[in-house]
Amino acid sequence: MLTIETLSVFPQVFAPYCDASILGRAQKAGIWELKCHDLRSWTHDRHHTVDDAPFGGGQGMLMKPAPFFEALADIGSSGPAPHVVFFTPAGTPFTQRVAERLAGMERIVFVCGRYEGMDERVYELADECLSLGDYVLTGGELAAMVVTDAVVRLLPGALGDSLSAVDESFSSAGLLEYAQYTRPADYEGRTVPEVLLSGDHAKVDAWRRRDAIRRTALLRPDLLQTADLTEQERAYAEELREAARQAQHEEES
Ligand code: ADE
Repeated sequence: MLTIETLSVFPQVFAPYCDASILGRAQKAGIWELKCHDLRSWTHDRHHTVDDAPFGGGQGMLMKPAPFFEALADIGSSGPAPHVVFFTPAGTPFTQRVAERLAGMERIVFVCGRYEGMDERVYELADECLSLGDYVLTGGELAAMVVTDAVVRLLPGALGDSLSAVDESFSSAGLLEYAQYTRPADYEGRTVPEVLLSGDHAKVDAWRRRDAIRRTALLRPDLLQTADLTEQERAYAEELREAARQAQHEEES
């Protein structure tokens, strides 16, 4: 059982998402549990102040160090030692590999900052800092929910069909997922690739592999560098990229 805890000034924002759908079902099934801590519980003034003006001047307020230090000392004082994750655009980019690593842990605390930033000294409490991408959110809460979602769905039993977490984008081969279709085979003239209707599983598998390579080569060529491809597959990907470059060139001239 994985325990995910959050430390935030908005502890109430997590449940509506995490109690619904697949994450909610997985909680009820005892696959993981969520505990949300209110950072203001570790303040000592009447107004439960968590922020203050920056030394050196400048706009905005910073989150004070003390509530974080006290909260994490309390939270960590019982149970297994938690893996403490902070969210900041300066963190390591969050990827499927990171999700897989976190899914193997027993207890994670997601620390969610707000406002203009945090006192730099809090980062010594972090086992790691993660960034969702090169953009700025108003706080770490959404980032924590994104990471929670990506991690929980990897836990054994969280998805009804345990195969469905294996075959998809960014899985072990590092490719985008192949195109998928359901009925009808012809939707107002938009047809499904013949091979998928053939019932020949070997041919279907081969088509899916090629489609995954094709989509990756055209949509996310940066992923090819680390993708797990045979030499022949790599040549196919290069051929597709070259054809795309030619087409682009002709369009421009
Ligand atoms: N907090 C603010 N912006 C963020 C980002 N891009 N990733 C993670 N945490 C953040």
